[in-house]
Amino acid sequence: MSQTATPIDTAPSTVFEQDVHDGFSRSPKFLPCKYFYDERGSELFARICELDAYYPTRTELAIMRCHAGEMAALIGRHARLVELGSGDSTKTRLLLDRVVDLEAYVPIDISAEYLARAASNLRRDYPHVPILPVSLDYSRPFELPRSVRANRTVVYFPGSTIGNFTPAEARRFLRIIEAAAGPRGGLLIGVDLKKDPAVLHAAYNDPEGITAAFNLNLLVRINHELGGEFALDQFRHDAFYDTRQGRIEMRLVSLARQIVRIGSSSYAFARGEPITTEYSYKYDLGEFEKLAAEAGFSLRRSWTDENGFFGVQYYAVDRAG
Ligand code: TRP
Repeated sequence: MSQTATPIDTAPSTVFEQDVHDGFSRSPKFLPCKYFYDERGSELFARICELDAYYPTRTELAIMRCHAGEMAALIGRHARLVELGSGDSTKTRLLLDRVVDLEAYVPIDISAEYLARAASNLRRDYPHVPILPVSLDYSRPFELPRSVRANRTVVYFPGSTIGNFTPAEARRFLRIIEAAAGPRGGLLIGVDLKKDPAVLHAAYNDPEGITAAFNLNLLVRINHELGGEFALDQFRHDAFYDTRQGRIEMRLVSLARQIVRIGSSSYAFARGEPITTEYSYKYDLGEFEKLAAEAGFSLRRSWTDENGFFGVQYYAVDRAG
C-alpha cells in the first residue's frame, strides 16, 4: 500500500492551529502559554526549575519541606487530592509522604506522555495511594472523575501558575476550582510574590539560555506540528517586569522584517515586533487573599520563606454543603 503524506495545507484544522491563527491575528501578536508544555517543553521547564536564578521552585519547595506536616493536617483524612498541572509531582511528594488515609491522588496535566511516566513513578513509590492521572487542558471546562468515598476534595495548584492568568481570569478560574472542590473542599495554592525587579529579571533571563530555549520551543512546535517555517535564529527571547501591572511579560521578538509561512497561511512580522507568550503576575499576600475571597475561599493559613519571595496558602471553600 502506498503511503502519501497529507499535504500540510489541506490538513484538518486543529485547536492548536486555530489558536495560533487567532493569536497571530491580534495586535500585539499572542500565543497561549499552555503550548509550552509538550514533552520537550515539559523537560525544559523542569530544567528551568533547577536554575540557580529561578527562585520560585526552590523557594516553594523549601516552604513545603518546612510546613508539609501542617498542610497535611489541614488536608485531613480521607481526602482526595487533585493537582492542576502536576508535571513530575516533585512538590506533591512532600504531601503524599504525610497525608493520612488519602483516598486518591488525581494528577492533571496537559502533557499525556509526561503524565503517564510521572504516574508510574508515583505508583511505585506510593503503592498504598490510588493514583488516578487525568490528561486534560484545565484551561477549558473540565470535570473531575467521580469519587464517592472521599470526604473532601482538596485542589493543589502550586508553582504560581495562577500568576499566568490575568487577575480577572484568575478570579474566574478560582471560581471553577471552588465549584470542583465543593462544600468542605480546600485549596492549597502557591503564589509568587512582588519583589525587587532585579531578582525577577534574573529569574526569567538565565545566562545558559534554557529559558530562551523554552520560550522558542513554541515556534519549534509550530514548525513540527503545523508545518511552520520559523527560522529560530530570527527570534529572540525577551522577558521584563512591568512594575505598574505587577507582572513579568514573556515575549518572542522578531529580529528582522519577515514573512513566515505556517501551512497555507502567512504572517508578517515587523523588525522588533513581539509575540506575547506569557504573563507571570506577582501578588502581595493580602492582594491574593482578596482575589481568592472574591471566588468564595476563606484563608486558613499562609506560609512564606524568610525573604518573603513566595507564598503558599491554604483556603477552605466558604459555603456550607
Ligand atoms: N509559569 C512559569 C512562570 O511564570 C513559566 C516560566 C518560567 C516561563 N520561565 C519562563 C515562561 C520563561 C516563558 C519563558 O514562572
